[in-house]
Amino acid sequence: MTNKITKSELAEIKEKNRGSRSYTNGEVTIYWRPHLCIHSANCLTGLPKVFDNSSRPWIKPQEASGRDIIRVVNTCPTRALTYLKNCANAAGDKPKPSSDKTTAVKVQIMKNGPALIRGNFFITDGTGNLIESDNEVASICRCGGSKKKPFCDGTHLKIGFTD
Ligand code: SF4
Ligand code: FES
Repeated sequence: MTNKITKSELAEIKEKNRGSRSYTNGEVTIYWRPHLCIHSANCLTGLPKVFDNSSRPWIKPQEASGRDIIRVVNTCPTRALTYLKNCANAAGDKPKPSSDKTTAVKVQIMKNGPALIRGNFFITDGTGNLIESDNEVASICRCGGSKKKPFCDGTHLKIGFTD
């Protein structure tokens, strides 16, 4: 899986922002979209010197090489973390959509957490009204405790949900 940021994700950050931030070490830029985070902690355990939610800023890209950062950003299951190699920008290249896009929709049940949906999908409520969600990934609450239903807000961790 690659979490290289896509054109549509960059456009979404520009248009809606929703608290999104970017952090760079000159070699690679990390994009952070908090509304997509399900607190799996892959980033915190994968590269604690860069991702440390006990300090501010919580992402310090200058603490590691671009290669290590990309390796760990690629483990973020929801694309809350994405990246762009800065050399592409310097060369004036436009970011290309990620190459691993498929037309099939994938649903992944996370252990003790939400169900992740990836692909080209849309979500409606019981009466067929469209519920706004990210176009490429959504995490659906399975624990029943989220205050942002149908989406996961990380409550599964607080209530010790197991499944
Ligand atoms: S969802 Fe992504 S950003 Fe959030 S804790 Fe997990 S790896 Fe880190
Ligand atoms: S599964 Fe994450 S809040 Fe319910």
